[in-house]
Amino acid sequence: MEQTERIGKGLQELETWVLPAIEGAGDPEALEQIRVRVLGRKGQLTEILRGLSAFPPEMRREVGQQANALKAHIEAKLQERQQGLRVALHEGLAVRDAIDITLPGRPVRRGSLHPLTATLYEIVEIFQHLGFSVAEGPEVELDYYNFEALNIPKDHPARDMQDTFYVTDEVLLRTHTSPVQIRVMEAQTPPVRIVAPGRVYRRDADPTHSPMFHQVEGLLVDYGVSFADLKGTLQAFVDQFFGAGTRLRYRPSFFPFTEPSAEVDIACVMCKGTGCRVCKGSGFLEILGSGMVDPEVFRMVGYDPEITGFAFGMGVERIAMLRYGIDDIRLFFENDLRFLQQFPSL
Ligand code: PHE
Repeated sequence: MEQTERIGKGLQELETWVLPAIEGAGDPEALEQIRVRVLGRKGQLTEILRGLSAFPPEMRREVGQQANALKAHIEAKLQERQQGLRVALHEGLAVRDAIDITLPGRPVRRGSLHPLTATLYEIVEIFQHLGFSVAEGPEVELDYYNFEALNIPKDHPARDMQDTFYVTDEVLLRTHTSPVQIRVMEAQTPPVRIVAPGRVYRRDADPTHSPMFHQVEGLLVDYGVSFADLKGTLQAFVDQFFGAGTRLRYRPSFFPFTEPSAEVDIACVMCKGTGCRVCKGSGFLEILGSGMVDPEVFRMVGYDPEITGFAFGMGVERIAMLRYGIDDIRLFFENDLRFLQQFPSL
């Protein structure tokens, strides 16, 4: 009798701490610790139950029932609490991941066009309005198109000014957009009216020369084209781009693929032609090379010898520098946001 009473008390004691402990368990690990302490292989209740086997059967029945009932109760409570914790966990996650609709929206940061891209687009658009269409050619070009077909044979001194990056003896990075002239004339018959924007490469690097830069080539071919047509077209362009009445100056020059040839200067946009540091006192800045297409070029593409035409090639960086008052060409290619963000509306 004494023994059964002792066990009964033990069970009661167990019950008094274990049930509140289960209720108070804050997470699945704490709950598992309680389970092990009570129901594990060496758990308190397990030991009690094991100890009962030493009792005579009539004693065993009463406390055994009590002990088993407590065991079932504790197991039920454990399960209930486990379930409760699981629900709480999910609710916690739901709150944490919920969208806070009271937060102000994140502004969409729109990029803007690079000043060179914007300049290029604008130049091309003006010529499109004048009836030119857009042609393109490869940046990795054959020696034939870049030089040979433009009347610049292998030993020609004009090659010195256009040293470039060679892939092989016959394959190079184009030094100008003029090879597109040849590709277009090989592909279509006159009349031709194209502009060809793109990247070009030269062995050059200083504040006004970059080894990679951009040009827009222009080519117009038809019967009866004169130098006056070239002048009128270029004047229409600068009137649009720099403002009406912008003065141009033509200087006789030489290109193997045009005859006659002219370099064209624009009245300095800084001093309006009176002379300043930007134009080195001359009042003018060079923006392009041009001329009447040399009959030799027409012969190479198989055009009628009676055909006429003009061509020009302008440097996009130069024009953008004039437009925006930029004094170092390298700024275009450094990707410094402090520079690029000065052109937000482009
Ligand atoms: N291709 C010449 C250059 O890069 C420019 C040019 C183009 C001259 C077309 C005349 C005609 O310097």
